Amino acid sequence: MTPQIYVTRPLPGTALTLLKNFGDVDVNPHEASLTKTELIRKLQGKTAVITLLTDIIDKEVLDACPSLKVISNYAVGFNNIDVKEAKARGIIVCTTPGILTDSTADLTFALILAVTRHLLAADHFTRTGQFQGFSPTLFLGSSLAGKTLGIVGMGRIGEAVAKRALAFNMKIDYYNRSPKDYPEYQSRSLEYLLRESDIVSLHMAYTPELTHLIGEKQLAIMKCQAYLINTARGPLIDERALVRALESKRIKGAGLDVFEEEPRLTPGLSALANVVLLPHIGSATVETREQMAMLAVENLIAALEGRQPTAAA
Ligand code: DGY
Repeated sequence: MTPQIYVTRPLPGTALTLLKNFGDVDVNPHEASLTKTELIRKLQGKTAVITLLTDIIDKEVLDACPSLKVISNYAVGFNNIDVKEAKARGIIVCTTPGILTDSTADLTFALILAVTRHLLAADHFTRTGQFQGFSPTLFLGSSLAGKTLGIVGMGRIGEAVAKRALAFNMKIDYYNRSPKDYPEYQSRSLEYLLRESDIVSLHMAYTPELTHLIGEKQLAIMKCQAYLINTARGPLIDERALVRALESKRIKGAGLDVFEEEPRLTPGLSALANVVLLPHIGSATVETREQMAMLAVENLIAALEGRQPTAAA
């Protein structure tokens, strides 16, 4: 029987052509997420689905879509899927790790540089005609060389960020739940890392126990000259506490690519000058997004053919 496949959003590149040669494919043509009701309706009778991190696949959806055999997530993170419930129904859940490591690490560094060197304000200043010539005191930022980068979560992306930080002559401390063995990086407790780092960058895979890993208490022990960067998942940070910490200059600044209630911003965040806000574009390069689409499709096909997908959750 021809597999019936649903794709919740148009994907870049040629991956969907490959998918269309394999089964009957229906793609949501709109650049907007489906509501839960729409998603359930679209998944009726479908064997497999390619989902985005914005598609919540919970017990209710799984109960309502009993024909599903494979969920292939177009993301490395899969906190949008209730994997336990899916597995209990024999559904294979796949993800796209590895290929977005470098683009996400690059964007982490872009955020670090943007916030420590006031890039957005300086660009605005220049393009609005305020630049009157070189000044020794114009837009003074913070140097990276010699500073400590504290990496929270030393998985693939954390490691790629650490490598880049070495090239910037930074010292690297990390906190990871399972022990790692690196000659050039120091393992620290989360508390030590927060207290001592000049820049703290979050790279943990989000699970509900990690909600508000960084809240009032953690922000209170950071240096007042420190910056907080998040390219992982929004709920790792208590965003209200972060707004208060930034408003009161408790910490120096923040660079965020992800938000607690994405795409909604916590009130107060967008009014702050010491924060750089990006719309979840960590993996957004043409090359990476096309490779993610290809891997999501290959995973789905492998799983439906009874082969081991490259990346199963
Ligand atoms: C992911 O893959 O989890 C990123 O957040 C988006 O590419």
